[in-house]
Amino acid sequence: DLRPSEMKPRAPSRPPSKSRNSSVNGRGVSASDFTFGRQLGQGSYSSVMYAKSVSTGEEYAIKVIDKGHLKRKDKTHIAQAERNTLVKLGSGHPGIVRLHSTFQDNWSLYFVLDLARNGELQSRISNLGSLSLPCARYYTAQIVDTLGYIHSKGVLHRDLKPENVLLDDNFRVKICDFGTGKILGDSDRAATFVGTPQYVSPELLERNETTKSSDYWALGCIVYQMISGKFAFHGLSDYLTLEKIKKIDYSFPEGFDEEAKDLVQKFLIRDPAQRLGAGPPGSPNDVRALRSHPFFASINWATLWSDPAPPFE
Ligand code: ADE
Repeated sequence: DLRPSEMKPRAPSRPPSKSRNSSVNGRGVSASDFTFGRQLGQGSYSSVMYAKSVSTGEEYAIKVIDKGHLKRKDKTHIAQAERNTLVKLGSGHPGIVRLHSTFQDNWSLYFVLDLARNGELQSRISNLGSLSLPCARYYTAQIVDTLGYIHSKGVLHRDLKPENVLLDDNFRVKICDFGTGKILGDSDRAATFVGTPQYVSPELLERNETTKSSDYWALGCIVYQMISGKFAFHGLSDYLTLEKIKKIDYSFPEGFDEEAKDLVQKFLIRDPAQRLGAGPPGSPNDVRALRSHPFFASINWATLWSDPAPPFE
């Protein structure tokens, strides 16, 4: 049962069906409440489908997770982690794909999520080769703001990458895929490498350690990639990529913006405690220092989520 303890089951408002349902707003929900459309994305044991509520016409992205596959691969805790972190994050920030409800039937778990209609940041980078500086700055700022919120709730993402940064109707950031998320203070269920080679931090590779700093390492890799169009760390195999990360073996291409370079260099530091954004409040590398970095000089943090997004170029 994936219901967290704070969500007490309620008396059913209609005859109980075969499926067990629970929702963030307490209503019972099932697959028959939605018309399913095209596939929006696919993971190793889940797919994300477009869906429309039959009663309200509201559109959602529903993540359908195969229960048999989860059990066979002993991955039940991943779905549980994703649900727990999404519930914990709630609706408190515009930069997160919000969980509206969950339900299950004999075969699948269903997560009803915000629909991010403009897809993955990864596709934008691939299509354009790289992003303009104003664009890269805007997306970096939105990710910084969202990470600050996520961490303030005691949650780590642990698999931040441009595929997990989605874009909504207004081309604003919606971070998704908390399947490897962790609530600080929980016992660490998966003491194994959970991320994606290109964005994984040296401390995870060398000491199996993750803190909020590891999310800032990943952000450093993302900023590098948005601006240059290339991975910061990329070898001919995953093994060689990981060797480069351990040596922090990367370089900036000619013409890489100087302020962006300074920012990336302050994220891609071996000592997690020294990374910009990761220091405790009041320290020289806290979130406030990060927001005050010269790269963000033209960003108005107060209107970041209402200002129009710069054109994609
Ligand atoms: N792909 C994965 N998750 C998605 C979402 N919430 N909205 C749109 N596409 C997605």
